[in-house]
Amino acid sequence: MSEKRNVVLFIATSLDGYIATEEEQLDWLFEVEGEGDNGFSAFYETIDTVLMGRKTYDWINNADNMDEFLYKDKRSVVFTRSTLEDNDHTHFINQNIEGFVKQIKQEKGKKIWLVGGGQLVSTFLENNLLDEVIVTVAPKIIGKGIPLFPEGTYKQNLSLEGVQTFNQFVELRYKVDKK
Ligand SMILES: NC(=O)c1ccc[n+]([C@@H]2O[C@H](COP(=O)([O-])OP(=O)(O)OC[C@H]3O[C@@H](n4cnc5c(N)ncnc54)[C@H](OP(=O)(O)O)[C@@H]3O)[C@@H](O)[C@H]2O)c1
Repeated sequence: MSEKRNVVLFIATSLDGYIATEEEQLDWLFEVEGEGDNGFSAFYETIDTVLMGRKTYDWINNADNMDEFLYKDKRSVVFTRSTLEDNDHTHFINQNIEGFVKQIKQEKGKKIWLVGGGQLVSTFLENNLLDEVIVTVAPKIIGKGIPLFPEGTYKQNLSLEGVQTFNQFVELRYKVDKK
């Protein structure tokens, strides 16, 4: 039997479950006192593919300090409902997310990172595509914003695998219980 690659949601959230403000700002997150790179490079070593929604892709490309695409050393896939042309570092997919993800999970390689955002997370949950969830919780309550888990028709049980603190951040690591 071939070994499937895990799809891992690795994401930071406010304590009240938001990944950005409504204006797509992340200042509240970046001002938190962490430790080192808060486990990012260790995680980044474990993956070779990044998956993200078109809004997250735009956010990354528009970030003030971003001269070049952040994940250009990885295979990078962006989901959209429009038709967008591939470029040097990114492949755009506009149909059958489920089929695409199931297919790349069968390919040889490292883990697959679901970067976000919330809309894409809900699609993955609705299609039972997630294998692991690593959430880094910031000690911030921001009241409103873009939810990590938007309302949806999904329900998911998880098993806690580990907890680690990075100064003010808490990282929660879960395995997704398969249905
Ligand atoms: N805190 C963190 O660690 C973190 C991590 C990642 C992102 N973020 C933040 O999250 C925000 C964006 O999150 P979001 O939830 O608004 O958007 P998102 O999930 O990043 O992107 C949504 C877009 O993805 C496409 N999409 C979503 N579901 C789809 C489906 N089932 N089929 C085809 N395409 C689909 C659509 O693109 P089209 O509109 O082109 O059709 C949709 O508008 C940004 O502000 C970003 O900074 C934060």
